[in-house]
Amino acid sequence: MTSRGLIGVFDSGVGGLTVLKALRRALPHHDFLYLGDTARVPYGRKPPEMVRGFAHEITAFLVDRGAAAIMVACNTATAVALTDLQNAFDIPVWGVINPGVEAAARATRSGRVGVIGTRGAIASGAYQRRLEACGMTVWAQACPMFVHLVEEGLADSPEAEILARHYLGAHPDIDTLILGCTHYPVLAPVIGRVLGPGVTLVESASVAAESLRITLAADAPGHGRITHFVTGDPVAYEHTAHVIGGVDGEIVALPISELKAYSPLGVSASR
Ligand code: DGL
Repeated sequence: MTSRGLIGVFDSGVGGLTVLKALRRALPHHDFLYLGDTARVPYGRKPPEMVRGFAHEITAFLVDRGAAAIMVACNTATAVALTDLQNAFDIPVWGVINPGVEAAARATRSGRVGVIGTRGAIASGAYQRRLEACGMTVWAQACPMFVHLVEEGLADSPEAEILARHYLGAHPDIDTLILGCTHYPVLAPVIGRVLGPGVTLVESASVAAESLRITLAADAPGHGRITHFVTGDPVAYEHTAHVIGGVDGEIVALPISELKAYSPLGVSASR
């Protein structure tokens, strides 16, 4: 792609807007297409083959709209679909797991690292394999209820504290924890309280954005445009996008039936 090519970004919902925000800051002159699949969120509880199908049709849609590269901003989709997408599409396709692993490798001193994510992301073993390949000792924990806390605006509630203690209270000796889900950075304060100051929390958005800035040698000034496609309620989406900030752009309602036209005939459902 050229240094100004159109970049497609997608997530199961609004969480990936934090990745888009970091990308936008790193690559201000680029145009972005963002697809938030809010009609089908959460991906984290769905079978991997179903998530792979969604990821494939979304990528095909974004490519059809002119995307010259794709950032999979969803950890679950990265975990179960990135390799398929890289094999199926003849453009750069990046995910958020390698940047998260890179951030953890920089942060840890002991080499004992934790990762939390959705059931799908943790069950895939994608984070664990990469961390272990870097020589780290890994503790992995699925925290399925965390997404719902954030979706319900309960990130700072007593319920969040109880669930964080439930999932993380018995953690082994680690000095770094990867927030391996788009929603978890919102819970960083409560997670930090439960784990204490000896554990550094890392997430992938800023590392992913920085590595793209370097890869694309992107130092031109300017104001690129963002177009958002949203499969669910555009009003709720607009509200969240406004709260996150830095991702203003046109919002287009995209019926699932339109996405289905890009369904992955022939994509392996067995991996
Ligand atoms: N975007 C998903 C992820 O990062 C979290 C929400 C979901 O389960 O779809 O894994």
